[in-house]
Amino acid sequence: MRAALMILLGLVIGVIGTVNVMNALSARNPMPKAVMDTMGYHVGELKDAIKAKQCEPARVQHHLERLASTASDITPVFGISEKTFTDDAGKLQTQLQQAVQAAPASCEALVAAIKPVGETCKSCHQQYR
Ligand code: HEC
Repeated sequence: MRAALMILLGLVIGVIGTVNVMNALSARNPMPKAVMDTMGYHVGELKDAIKAKQCEPARVQHHLERLASTASDITPVFGISEKTFTDDAGKLQTQLQQAVQAAPASCEALVAAIKPVGETCKSCHQQYR
């Protein structure tokens, strides 16, 4: 009898736990934040490199490429179709592709390459964040 009660209790706890987790998961689509946090991380790494005056070209290129590919997720993931939003997202992608192509070999070149990028982050955040 006792064993059966414990099994029942275990099942009930399991069901409550599952429902809680499923509610938490469906409450909010985590992707928009995940995309932004990923870009924030890579921009942060680049800013740290500039501050430390250690802009190793291969590392810099890695972060720029990750930024460019992550930026291409903004429009599909956010599902905002207003023109100013999709324009900013498109502009960011173009600017990041240009930065990747520029392949900055020094901190000065990196600063110049990501300046317009930072302005586009800001422009969209002022309106939509
Ligand atoms: C086209 C619009 C747009 C562009 C461009 C954009 N963002 Fe965002 N960003 C947003 C929106 C909208 C939010 C708010 C998201 C939310 O809270 O769900 C946000 C939030 C963030 C956040 C906070 C995420 C969190 O956990 O709350 C970070 C970090 C971020 N963006 C970084 C960046 C960086 C870095 C760039 C440029 C490389 C950038 N964003 C460009 C629209 C944009």
